[in-house]
Amino acid sequence: MRIVVTGGAGYIGSHTCVELLNGGHEVIIVDNLVNSHREVIERIAQITGERPLFYEADATSDLAVDLIFSTHQPEGVIHFAGLKAVGESVQVPLAYYRNNLLSTMVVLDNCLKHGVDRFVFSSSATVYGENQVPFVETMELGHRTNPYGETKAICERMLTDVAEVNPQLAVTLLRYFNPVGAHESGLIGEAPQGVPNNLMPYLTQVAKGVLGELQVFGNDYPTPDGTGVRDYIHVVDLAEGHVLALERAEPGVSIYNLGTGKGTSVLELVEAFEKANNLKIPYTITARRAGDIAECYADVRKAREQLGWTAKRDLTEMARDAWRFEQQTGKNNS
Ligand code: NAD
Ligand code: UFG
Repeated sequence: MRIVVTGGAGYIGSHTCVELLNGGHEVIIVDNLVNSHREVIERIAQITGERPLFYEADATSDLAVDLIFSTHQPEGVIHFAGLKAVGESVQVPLAYYRNNLLSTMVVLDNCLKHGVDRFVFSSSATVYGENQVPFVETMELGHRTNPYGETKAICERMLTDVAEVNPQLAVTLLRYFNPVGAHESGLIGEAPQGVPNNLMPYLTQVAKGVLGELQVFGNDYPTPDGTGVRDYIHVVDLAEGHVLALERAEPGVSIYNLGTGKGTSVLELVEAFEKANNLKIPYTITARRAGDIAECYADVRKAREQLGWTAKRDLTEMARDAWRFEQQTGKNNS
């Protein structure tokens, strides 16, 4: 299939482009590079031997998206483009609502206009709020926790409303848990700007000596060792899930959790990282981070039964691949 990938130069998008190209699909990346670099396109080509088409364009621009769709007449879209920093979304909510809602509206509108029937959307486990774990797709959406999470919930509802009156449309809402790791080549991965907010990139920068020590945000949660529990998933597993979701898309709305189904605490992740890479990570326990929940992990039965997808890579591979990328490429990437 010919697929437009918005945000395809970003962390999850770039890994998904690799899997799409490996699967024989044609890829057209639309990215304004607000949180990534042009170099990533080169790296995707280096890994796959296929060069994706690339437009440096804003997915909120109707003019740009319309032109790209009429030029290439894609058969499907994966919409990754969006801003994703939870803390920043509290500081500049309007930028988040504008970018995340408007880009989804513009891309969806152009799907209807140009007869593109497959729409895969990057959603997040954050939409479950403080429901009881494991999170199941049939649960009601939880309470809003921050503007970023709210943009995902609004987009999910918007896509559902539009699919209801456009029966040819296949909308797939993929709720990601905690994507970590990198491609085994070490050429693409996650290299956030500034001090990382997320645990794994923070760990790799402590390992590299860029940051002094890890702060563990709270050890008084109702979890086995008191630290927060998350469902870490290797980004290549996640990317493979997108290809299957796209290929198996059916008219209507389909929702899938993409996680491993296994919860790992902060201290367990630190230990796995140390073991996998034969390193020591200094850490201190500090106060809880505002807005964090105790536990977040997926019920993964639906993706297994209906997509035939399960996450295959374990914590050791996640830790090794994340560290390889940090050493080899680090900040030169997205
Ligand atoms: P990322 O920032 O690495 O990638 C997003 C890409 O979108 C970047 O390349 C950025 O330049 C681009 N972009 C942003 N706004 C754009 C616009 N208006 N037009 C064109 N390009 C634009 O982030 P990621 O981690 O790869 O996340 C991809 C998607 O998955 C996002 O929608 C994010 O909210 C969602 N998601 C991420 C996580 C996570 O933990 N990484 C978890 C759940 C959901
Ligand atoms: N943590 C630390 N120290 C750090 C960073 C994180 O102890 O320096 C802890 C957090 O308190 C949490 C765990 O590590 O218990 C994971 O935190 P992350 O920031 O890596 O990830 P979150 O689960 O908070 O959030 C991520 C994405 C969100 C997405 C959510 C979905 O950042 O965008 O997963 O589950 F919505």
